[in-house]
Amino acid sequence: MSTSRAATPRKLLMCPPSHFDVTYSINPWMVPGKPTDRALALLQWEQLRDLFRTLGHTVETIEPLPGLPDMVFAANGATVVDGKVLGARFLHAERTAEGPAYLQWFEQHGYREVLWPEHINEGEGDYLTVGRRILAGTGFRTDPRSHAEAQEFFGLPVTSLTLVNPRHYHLDTALAVLSDTEIMYYPAAFTPGSQAVLREMFPDAIHASDEEAALFGLNAFSDGLNVLLPQAAQGLQEQLRARGFNPIGVDLTELLKAGGSVKCCTLELRD
Ligand code: ARG
Repeated sequence: MSTSRAATPRKLLMCPPSHFDVTYSINPWMVPGKPTDRALALLQWEQLRDLFRTLGHTVETIEPLPGLPDMVFAANGATVVDGKVLGARFLHAERTAEGPAYLQWFEQHGYREVLWPEHINEGEGDYLTVGRRILAGTGFRTDPRSHAEAQEFFGLPVTSLTLVNPRHYHLDTALAVLSDTEIMYYPAAFTPGSQAVLREMFPDAIHASDEEAALFGLNAFSDGLNVLLPQAAQGLQEQLRARGFNPIGVDLTELLKAGGSVKCCTLELRD
């Protein structure tokens, strides 16, 4: 297996969970009424942010807004490729105000090519860039018509993948990009046709077991060498190590109560 992996420094956008809570349920992980510990959520989030910085990445932050408990999941705020920003348009009313809030951040930070989308799309939750291609999820949140909108806007090939398991409601809960050519994913989260497409495109991909997928192990961030993923997903960590990656377990158990982990908290700013 490859031993010459190298990390490339990334620019990331994150949002502190200052208003985090589980007050509504829009995915099966969210159980309103089950106690959450905001101080612990903040501590765990800060550890992730500091880890990114220690690894040499640049972390920008956006001001969290009251009344938007899911705003911590910055991955959903937009999709940024080649400096172009495709704004997010959320499916659920509880999150709609996040779209304009994130878009405003980009407008205030010098991004010139910004598109307010016509169709529902939940940012990098459903759009994952692999090299010069974009994998696009649908089935629960992002409208399949958004995929054509994204392809036209970015001028990059967009491959549609359909999700079927409500516990993996966003693409980034079922598939993680490891390098410009490699991914890991949970086949059972996809329709048979989408599984076949993934096998065709990535015959050597790492497959996650039911158990590892249920631990949210695919909600991972890779810089090409270091792969940050939920601490509990030990089996995936072993598979990653065997392929020459450096897996780093991260504890984000509080945010998991809202159905999010490492990748959900992280929006990559690709210039
Ligand atoms: N509670 C949020 C929702 O259901 C979690 C979003 C997680 N983000 C992600 N990129 N998967 O919308």
